[in-house]
Amino acid sequence: MEKIIMYPGENKKDTVNYKDMQAQHITAVERNVLVLGSGGREHALAWKIAQSEKVSKVYIAPGNAGTASVGENISINIADFQAVKDVVLKYYINLVVVGPEQPLVDGIVDFFKSDADLKDVKIIGPDKAGAQLEGSKAFAKQFMEKYGIPTAKCFTVTSENLNDGLKYLETLSAPYVLKADGLAAGKGVLILDDLSEAKAELKEMLSGKFGSASAKVVIEQFLKGIEVSMFVLTDGENYIILPEAKDYKRIGDGDTGLNTGGMGAVSPVPFVTPEFVEKVENRIIKPTIQGLKNEKIDYKGFIFLGLMNCGGDPYVIEYNVRMGDPETEGVMTRIDSDFAELLDKCAQGKLNEARYQSSKETSVTVMLVSGGYPEAYKKGMKITGLENVCPCCVVAHAGTKFDGNDIVTSGGRVIAVTAHGKNIEEAREKAYHNAKQIVFEGKNYRHDIGLDLINYHA
Ligand code: AMP
Ligand code: GLY
Repeated sequence: MEKIIMYPGENKKDTVNYKDMQAQHITAVERNVLVLGSGGREHALAWKIAQSEKVSKVYIAPGNAGTASVGENISINIADFQAVKDVVLKYYINLVVVGPEQPLVDGIVDFFKSDADLKDVKIIGPDKAGAQLEGSKAFAKQFMEKYGIPTAKCFTVTSENLNDGLKYLETLSAPYVLKADGLAAGKGVLILDDLSEAKAELKEMLSGKFGSASAKVVIEQFLKGIEVSMFVLTDGENYIILPEAKDYKRIGDGDTGLNTGGMGAVSPVPFVTPEFVEKVENRIIKPTIQGLKNEKIDYKGFIFLGLMNCGGDPYVIEYNVRMGDPETEGVMTRIDSDFAELLDKCAQGKLNEARYQSSKETSVTVMLVSGGYPEAYKKGMKITGLENVCPCCVVAHAGTKFDGNDIVTSGGRVIAVTAHGKNIEEAREKAYHNAKQIVFEGKNYRHDIGLDLINYHA
């Protein structure tokens, strides 16, 4: 059938019935993609998806000042699934990519599957049952135990068995790891050096330190090693391992200061050798996908493995059911294939038909953040110098918005600058040179992204 492109605003599409169009397989309809979210991850996803010749238009809801340059922002609250449905129908969206975890944990995929108008719309992300891998640490630990997936020893505590929890802490040695069971905006993990402090924190968590998210707490053995983020795209049967990345979580150089959402990333990671990947595949990825099948969980989306490399052996620290941020900003630049096609095949359960290739180059991503972040910070600072950034870099907006004629800061993490090189040194030099071109009051960033990986020896 001939390609018909209908952009929003063209009245003729209002007269066409969406279901009829789906039934007729009108090509253009299959080419409208909606990315949900508003951060650097979503900008990077939308940027990559928009490169596909098969995609007519990318919509981002709600998006930010950066996503507006690769598609059209739609201002809705994505926690309101009915509002998402209205957008899908209004703009003839055929593929939805869910960026953050919260809508997945809240059941957006189940909402699509059970809605007569949406059930044939392709969506990337697990349903509510699958999203528990991230939404409940206790669920994830039980799952790993059941399927023999390497992870830290643990004990789950509620107010009912607090005394057992306190006793379990005594069997461990410092540092002590306490994790809120539910989503706690990335703040629900405490690592404590002192036993009495750990006991006191355990009690506080159970009494609502992180609201209902810490009504259940997982106490974990501390794993010593170096962390890496690995990303799997699976249709529940087939899988592709996307480029891995190392995230830099602390605010200060040399891994000092408070934890943040992520201050930068490097991809690939030198210790992720073919041997290491083989261990991850055999010990973690295959049993995870088999486990999901056994649990009758239909999983079509990303699995983000937060891994600890303990002397060459991978252990799962956490599962996430979405891509990482800021890892995605670097990872997307290393994918050489048509990413929209990969996602489309994945959503159809045909990932085995997709072509996938990644670049051998190294990417370094530097996150520019607001002064004061991750504590209180000012918003609304005018951003200048974006035009001075080399087009060879990829600039992903994380917390920006239009304010009249200007682009201004609107979050703690503001802009991620990614550069490529034949090695970390080269990519670092380019990324930092260009990160310096972007100016806003209070701008802060880490100066040591990737330094620890230069000449890294396992
Ligand atoms: P999570 O939210 O589970 O990724 O935990 C946040 C951070 O805490 C991780 O990125 C690790 O740096 C650290 N962490 C979590 N669990 C452990 C563990 N069992 N051993 C050592 N560090 C951990
Ligand atoms: N960069 C870590 C995360 O996205 O959870």
